[in-house]
Amino acid sequence: MRKTATKQSGKIPAQPGPREVASVNPGVPAEAESVIPGAGPSTRPGERPTVRLRDAGPDDAPRYAPEWLELREGPDAAARAADLLDPLRIRLANLPGKAGLVIHDLGCGTGSMGRWLASRLDGPQHWILHDRDPYLLHFAAVASPRSAADGSRVTVETRRGDVGLLTPDALAGASLVTASALLDVLTREEIDTLAAACTGAGCPALLTLSVAGRVELTPADPLDEEIADAFNAHQRRGGLLGPDAVTVACEAFSERGATVRLHPSAWRLGPAESALTAQWLRGWVGAAVEERPELKERAERYLQDRLEACRAGELKVVVHHSDLLALSRPTGGAS
Ligand SMILES: C[S@@+](CC[C@H](N)C(=O)[O-])C[C@H]1O[C@@H](n2cnc3c(N)ncnc32)[C@H](O)[C@@H]1O
Repeated sequence: MRKTATKQSGKIPAQPGPREVASVNPGVPAEAESVIPGAGPSTRPGERPTVRLRDAGPDDAPRYAPEWLELREGPDAAARAADLLDPLRIRLANLPGKAGLVIHDLGCGTGSMGRWLASRLDGPQHWILHDRDPYLLHFAAVASPRSAADGSRVTVETRRGDVGLLTPDALAGASLVTASALLDVLTREEIDTLAAACTGAGCPALLTLSVAGRVELTPADPLDEEIADAFNAHQRRGGLLGPDAVTVACEAFSERGATVRLHPSAWRLGPAESALTAQWLRGWVGAAVEERPELKERAERYLQDRLEACRAGELKVVVHHSDLLALSRPTGGAS
């Protein structure tokens, strides 16, 4: 599906909100559930580990709530590895042709990557926003960026589809591929396909905020490590790569001749980010218990203590991520 966005308001609209779509327990108001919209994605122990439309089937893909993506946008922006931008700018400046940049954002969600990156790159840009979720694509189109670093025009279009099936043809004419918080929810085959598509098109890729599988909570608790291990195991369910995604992506791009650079991009969450921390904690512990139900009792106490400390402004959390820049060998076909 292709759709060209017209006007941009710069703000994620409140409607349609998750109250219409996010209840995992029909009949229970979403706000009464401890549903973690999009965090993980995971819900309370024993519940389905996703946030779904009420009419969605049991095998449908997880859906991420725009509220969760909005909550993480500020800390994501603070975490992103700005050091990777200079090598990227140099590559983009050396592209043949001067018609402007064509940037594909894969798994765009509500479009936070574009809102961060468009204003950090010079020149006219056309963003092609990919996601399998039409609901999120709608938010992304409405709140898309308007102008580049030098004031040049930024336009967007949306494409609904599975980014795990991307081909080099789909990237013909692309200047850059981006993704944010995507790699860890892909399989090895999907990352191979993505790397093959980017390198086949000679296109650089900036793949950001992939979970590294390490978290630090201050003050520490004896259960931290057990929860982290169980959460990581949960992330690897169904062949998804979770914390192994970055290593696999580095290999997939390097094997295909790309130069790969990695940079840490951790969330550093303190009292100012308590809303995100609380959501993240619920998702993190919920997924851990789903993976290892024997943790349930201890984890529930742990979660309550952690949430109380979070409310009191006494908890600091570092969630480690990695940003990856892969500079493929140019093929001469980029715009
Ligand atoms: C964690 S969210 C990140 C969204 C956004 N990039 C951000 O940083 O806020 C992951 C996004 O990838 C999308 N997604 C996951 N797997 C996908 C696939 N195979 N094809 C298309 N979209 C996918 C989800 O619908 C969701 O919007």
